[in-house]
Amino acid sequence: MIDWKDRKEFWVAGARIADPVTGRIRTGSVLIRKGLIEEITWQKQVKTDLPVLEAGGLLLAPGFIDIHTHLREPGFEDKETIETGTAAAAAGGYTAIVCMANTDPVIDDPTVVEHVLKRAADSGNCRVYVIAAVTKGLEGVDICEYHHLKEAGAVALSDDGKYITNSQVMRSALEYAGMQGLVIISHCEDPYLTNESQMNESYWSTKLGLKGAHAASEEIAVARDIRLAELTGSMLHIAHVSTAGAVDLIKKAKKRGVVVTAEATPHHLTLDESMLEDYDRNLKVNPPLRGKKDIAALLAALRDGTIDCIATDHAPHTAIDKQVEFDLAPPGMIGLETSFAQLNTELVGKGELELIDLIRLMTSRPADVLGLPGGKMAEGEPADLVLIDPNERWTPERENLRSKSFNSPLLGKELTGRVQGVFLEGKWFSSII
Ligand code: NCD
Ligand code: ZN
Ligand code: ZN
Repeated sequence: MIDWKDRKEFWVAGARIADPVTGRIRTGSVLIRKGLIEEITWQKQVKTDLPVLEAGGLLLAPGFIDIHTHLREPGFEDKETIETGTAAAAAGGYTAIVCMANTDPVIDDPTVVEHVLKRAADSGNCRVYVIAAVTKGLEGVDICEYHHLKEAGAVALSDDGKYITNSQVMRSALEYAGMQGLVIISHCEDPYLTNESQMNESYWSTKLGLKGAHAASEEIAVARDIRLAELTGSMLHIAHVSTAGAVDLIKKAKKRGVVVTAEATPHHLTLDESMLEDYDRNLKVNPPLRGKKDIAALLAALRDGTIDCIATDHAPHTAIDKQVEFDLAPPGMIGLETSFAQLNTELVGKGELELIDLIRLMTSRPADVLGLPGGKMAEGEPADLVLIDPNERWTPERENLRSKSFNSPLLGKELTGRVQGVFLEGKWFSSII
């Protein structure tokens, strides 16, 4: 465990420095001064009068950026608050997150955007950007005033949790969002097809006696939104892609020049529907965990760039919310504190992805998708960095997580790779409690 008193000027020496832009990991040292990366050298040791943090070969990368977090505040502070959610983010290696609009009140008004940004500035443990709603109250009927939401600080628009079923509403939303240069992030599931479903529709849903949602419910939604993005020329981002068919649609759309980007979650990349055998409510999520072929398609899409980035869809729910009959449990699982370890264990560890590619998918790529700063290992950039031991084994438990909710299927399961902490503008936040 790194025991590091806060300093304003110091070297981090002898780290494996990961640069997602050049795609290289090289041993070197970084000088942090006044919250910025002042200098990067490729020397293991530095001659200096300044304090030195000996990194001992740990990995130093730009801080992770999560473009899909549910912070729950305002309205659902029993599940998570801005303070606990950003602490969970920092503990997971994130120095910036983008929070979703499905709060109460919904973030559909400039005053709510300002409120969240103010609360984040006061009590946040990482940078917070805000996604505002596409439609008032997430009701899919009246579109919000995007110009005012943008002025208040919103960086994107989403009715996440819900699909906008009225195609004319979505068309107008894309047109107006496009005029403001805002991306619309779409939760692609046709609710008439997913109606009361509990998991993916397959052999497994029949076997387990749970109502299924067919992959087509996602693919139909993706296909419509891609067509509307093509029609309007506006920017569309597909949240939590989970099926092989959706990957195929996105790939073809990109090929013909549609401005569409996409994300995949750690859970859809590593967990499959058969794991629902024990009816663990923490595995109930929207869209549902799919089959092994879908996972293979998602992995191929990460490698070939069809899927642009990884985003957690950190969706906290209390134990009381989840400890009910399976069909009454709300969908969603937390992810901020386990995402790196889970992906490092399951993908890097099993040869599915290179470590530097995983880092890129969690740093510069999400920044590019929403046009956010960060994700770069370069002199002059803010010192927003993550320090990782890719070989440390650890087991997530309630006691070592900071999120207010514990709805994770990974509790008690050993993982390889542990975030040690982050520097946020040079200020150290330890992950290890
Ligand atoms: C999310 C939530 O709980 O807010 N749940 C989920 O299953 N993913 C909503 C969402 O991301 O669609
Ligand atoms: Zn969603
Ligand atoms: Zn979500």
